[in-house]
Amino acid sequence: MRALGIEGTAHTVGVGIVDEECRVLANVYDMVKPEKGGIHPREAANHHAEMVVPLIRNAADVAGIDLRDLDLIAFSQGPGLGPCLRTVATAARALALSLDIPILGVNHCVAHLEIGRGVTDAKDPVLLYVSGGNTQVIAFARGRYRVFGETLDIGIGNMLDKFARECGLAFPGGPILEKLAQDGKTLLSLPYSVKGMDVAFSGMLTAALALRKQGAAIEDLAFSIQEVAFAMLTEVTERAMAHLDNDEVLLGGGVARNRRLQEMVARMASDRGARMFVPPGDLCIDNGAMIAWTGLLMHRGGVRMSLRETVVDQRYRTDEVAATWRA
Ligand code: ATP
Ligand code: FE2
Repeated sequence: MRALGIEGTAHTVGVGIVDEECRVLANVYDMVKPEKGGIHPREAANHHAEMVVPLIRNAADVAGIDLRDLDLIAFSQGPGLGPCLRTVATAARALALSLDIPILGVNHCVAHLEIGRGVTDAKDPVLLYVSGGNTQVIAFARGRYRVFGETLDIGIGNMLDKFARECGLAFPGGPILEKLAQDGKTLLSLPYSVKGMDVAFSGMLTAALALRKQGAAIEDLAFSIQEVAFAMLTEVTERAMAHLDNDEVLLGGGVARNRRLQEMVARMASDRGARMFVPPGDLCIDNGAMIAWTGLLMHRGGVRMSLRETVVDQRYRTDEVAATWRA
């Protein structure tokens, strides 16, 4: 069985093709880069509409298959930006109808976890999902993927990108700050906001920008933001692992590419006799392969959707999905 997945919850539109063994046959994508400011949902949707057909063709070429060799179409049903979700859903419906094969809408957050289980040795990990819009600690319990902790305001990636933008750095800011942080020498005081199992980042953003105005070096700020924000994330992830008595941690989302975050989580894991898993970078960021693979798992687990059930859901919660394929 081969599944094609289309991802398009935010600024990236991606198409992936996977087989029954979670071999990634193709995983191609294109990202909107805003000239300045954040992403505009309508502009991103226009971009996705323009790119999705060429990406589908390209994915089939890379995989070396004909579209008629596909058995399933999956797409990101939510959560995400409404216009982007609708654009991708429309493309997925058209493709499934024209090929006369089943279609499944996939929860984007669940897909980040499933691709990690698919391509690493992780069996039942706690997922630290850290991207632009999302920051969640997720694990499987009693038939569903449940959110054990999350951001109370903005996603960690958005915080990094916004800070970078205000300092005149390019988008996305996360990787640029990671480089700058290597030259940081002083740990500046920033708010450490952990509330129970949840975290918050907007206070840190405000404080860091205020320090920047007072003349703090950008390298020290990048270093301090990483140390404090990643320590917060490591703390709540460890608490989830302790409560669940779970000895596997999986990283996902674009920020999972950050070496310092990987180092801190790996250290926490090894201190408690647990293991950390990080999928390859292209499967950490938003991508079509994770959607294809999760669709395939769902299909195998007996999930079917009528066209009516493929309406998008901007606020699709992780724990709304009955993970029947894991039973
Ligand atoms: P989602 O829709 O799931 O919220 P997203 O649209 O933000 O995801 P991703 O590709 O998962 O997309 O993540 C992008 C984010 O990852 C950006 O905020 C970017 O700054 C951040 N990022 C990428 N590489 C790094 C890095 N090395 N260090 C820190 N942050 C990074
Ligand atoms: Fe994502």
